[in-house]
Amino acid sequence: MPKPHDHLHRHHLLLLLFLLIIATNSASASATTTNYQRFKEAPQFYNSPACSSLDTNEMCSHQAVHVAMTLDAAYLRGSMAAILSVLQHSSCPQNIRFHFIPSATANHHHLRLTISRSFPSLKFQIYPYDSSKVSGLISTSIRSALDCPLNYARNYLANLLPPCLSRVVYLDSDLVLVDDIAKLAATPLGDRSVLAAPEYCNANFTSYFTPTFWSNPTLSLTFAGRKACYFNTGVMVIDLQRWRQGDYTTKIIEWMELQKRMRIYELGSLPPFLLVFAGNIAPVDHRWNQHGLGGDNYRGLCRNLHPGPVSLLHWSGKGKPWVRLDANRPCPLDALWAPYDLLQTPFALES
Ligand SMILES: *[C@@H]1O[C@H](CO)[C@@H](O)[C@H](O)[C@H]1NC(C)=O
Repeated sequence: MPKPHDHLHRHHLLLLLFLLIIATNSASASATTTNYQRFKEAPQFYNSPACSSLDTNEMCSHQAVHVAMTLDAAYLRGSMAAILSVLQHSSCPQNIRFHFIPSATANHHHLRLTISRSFPSLKFQIYPYDSSKVSGLISTSIRSALDCPLNYARNYLANLLPPCLSRVVYLDSDLVLVDDIAKLAATPLGDRSVLAAPEYCNANFTSYFTPTFWSNPTLSLTFAGRKACYFNTGVMVIDLQRWRQGDYTTKIIEWMELQKRMRIYELGSLPPFLLVFAGNIAPVDHRWNQHGLGGDNYRGLCRNLHPGPVSLLHWSGKGKPWVRLDANRPCPLDALWAPYDLLQTPFALES
């Protein structure tokens, strides 16, 4: 028989243990909710029988579709949805290779873990991007989100990704595909084009550059002999070999250096791309960029789809679907993004 004294002691110990468990549990719970979002595991997607089996050169295979995306904490939920949408609509999902570019200061271990947990058999590589080399070149734009150094990572893809890679599809994080990415990746680049992107020749091209630019006799000749149109850099098919041969990274940097000395444009990362490539690119069919779904700067404005077929929905603009869904103020088309959302909600009932 235990003495009453022992009994009391054991009670104290149990109470202490109990409190300890509660304390550690709530500490880890608050750590995950404040710092990190948790994501569900996506279904596994398999190749159809017609898919070619890749050679052994895993991350560089020329038969693979290569996708490059930036990764950052603020847009991670969008990136996860984009990855899921790419896999889900691909007939050869196991032949896709992802190349992720986070900033060098990001927690790579956490990003790698997050992606592997949701996509256990995804073939991907992470290439940290040292944004400090570009930070001195970024001029403040009218929309501060556009000043984020990772927006400039697309300028450096040819240097960041392995030299063995040639064709790559670059995708923003605020979009979902509803069609096979292999078709987008097969966009013809012709004999000379370095990249393909969705062009919009009805947009007022003049307005992307300042009067200072147009009134300068030398600078205003930049587009002479080119049928220059605005194009979107959020969906691009890039030939990295041609890019490296033409040293286009240096050409873009030269424009950014000029912008530091005289203000030739107002937006952030887009105008240098236009300066170097506008009028010389191959077109991406507009079905691959149903753009502007993020509305514009007017609060509460919901956009509709543009006429024509839809292969990719792009929430370009200020409003992001996950923000509007969380705020319980979604636009009607945000319902098309929601099925790709992998965020683990704290009280979700798993079936
Ligand atoms: C295009 O934009 C420029 C400068 O913003 C303006 O002066 C011009 O009138 C515009 N052109 C058209 C056709 O709207």
